[in-house]
Amino acid sequence: MTDRLSTTAAAMVSISAAATNSAATRLIPSVAVSAFTTRLSSRTTLSLTSLRSSPLISRLFLPQETSVRRFSSGRIGYSTASSPKCAASDPEQLKGAREDIKELLKSTFCHPILVRLGWHDAGTYNKNIEEWPQRGGANGSLRFEIELKHGANAGLVNALKLLQPIKEKYSSVTYADLFQLASATAIEEAGGPKIPMKYGRVDVSEPEQCPEEGRLPDAGPPSPASHLRDVFNRMGLDDKEIVALSGAHTLGRSRPDRSGWGKPETKYTKDGPGAPGGQSWTVQWLKFDNSYFKDIKEKKDEDLLVLPTDAVLFDDPAFKEYAEKYAVDVDAFFKDYAEAHAKLSSIGAKFDPPEGFSLDDIPAKGQPEKFVAAKYSTGKTELSDSMKQKIRAEYEGFGGSPDKPLQSNYFLNIIIVIAVLAFVTSFVMN
Ligand code: HEM
Repeated sequence: MTDRLSTTAAAMVSISAAATNSAATRLIPSVAVSAFTTRLSSRTTLSLTSLRSSPLISRLFLPQETSVRRFSSGRIGYSTASSPKCAASDPEQLKGAREDIKELLKSTFCHPILVRLGWHDAGTYNKNIEEWPQRGGANGSLRFEIELKHGANAGLVNALKLLQPIKEKYSSVTYADLFQLASATAIEEAGGPKIPMKYGRVDVSEPEQCPEEGRLPDAGPPSPASHLRDVFNRMGLDDKEIVALSGAHTLGRSRPDRSGWGKPETKYTKDGPGAPGGQSWTVQWLKFDNSYFKDIKEKKDEDLLVLPTDAVLFDDPAFKEYAEKYAVDVDAFFKDYAEAHAKLSSIGAKFDPPEGFSLDDIPAKGQPEKFVAAKYSTGKTELSDSMKQKIRAEYEGFGGSPDKPLQSNYFLNIIIVIAVLAFVTSFVMN
């Protein structure tokens, strides 16, 4: 049987050779011939002519080669053309870290402080400065003592201490990614929306790269609305994003011994969970929903906090439009919050790879990558000029043009060749 197949194979090879070298070539373009890769048995795999040299075919059908990459961090790893090139953080480790963060949240209820940590690392961004890391933003600089000592960051050293063991366990995750991963995971685990995060943030490497003090907002400035706009517009964020992001105060508490704001304890905080005390904006301050907007609008519970920068969301006409909407429409709030949070988490960051990568695109370990048609059919990658020239030459070789539809007899020719091959095969088999 195998011998027979081999004979058939040999016959087909010679047909294909004839097809390529003779008049058949004029009928069948190499791209079409190339497509007839026929696996006849485990021992006999026929690749008809020019499979590799045809740019179209090799792009569309040949398996993508695995390449060895040297990451900028000095690590060596393997990547395929279809898997994200992740130099700054390792996706598998990020996923592991995410699971550990979930466990940490369950045991310590530290959701609010992790959100504040991510926000304060990113919120130093100045869009008017082009250079990284001078422009500030989500770059992991908040791990350095000099920045942790900025007045606005009082208490955040506790968040860093909670994350440090996870950082040590997953050493191929950058601080910048870890802070943002922790914040987004905390929002999601508290019942908030899924944040469309991307990863691959590069870390600053030394304390000298930390931003100067004073880039984060004050809670009680003389003119809260214009102060919020000054600070957030500098980060590239607008009115809608200011209001949506302020909704993060649905979580957590303010402590007078840290920020100077809030009561030492209230009926909602005296028993914890976590370290008791402080004053929360909402009754259920570990649940992410739109109760922040409802509660600050009503301002009727003495035990709930309303900072001047919270109150202004219902005083300023432009802010008020969003705040009113979010107070009655939790879906609208979740949608705008998720978008604004994802944006905040990336401002000022330098990504490696430059486009970042989503953890949702990484197949689970041992699982083949899911086929996503859109990835292959609508790729925005522009072909290089030399590749375009090659493709044009292929088309012109058989009298066509990539700009014009193929003539109908082109397909007729293909059908004739298939019929001939089928006929010869059945002839040899019998
Ligand atoms: C709009 C300007 C903002 C001001 C003036 C402000 C101010 C404050 C202040 C004074 C505290 C209390 C800190 C403490 O005493 O421990 C606080 C806590 C908090 N902030 Fe903001 N914040 C602002 C925006 C944001 C944003 C944009 C987010 C997140 C996206 C955020 C998330 C939090 C969280 C979660 C806490 C609670 C932390 C905890 O319980 O440990 N804040 N904020």
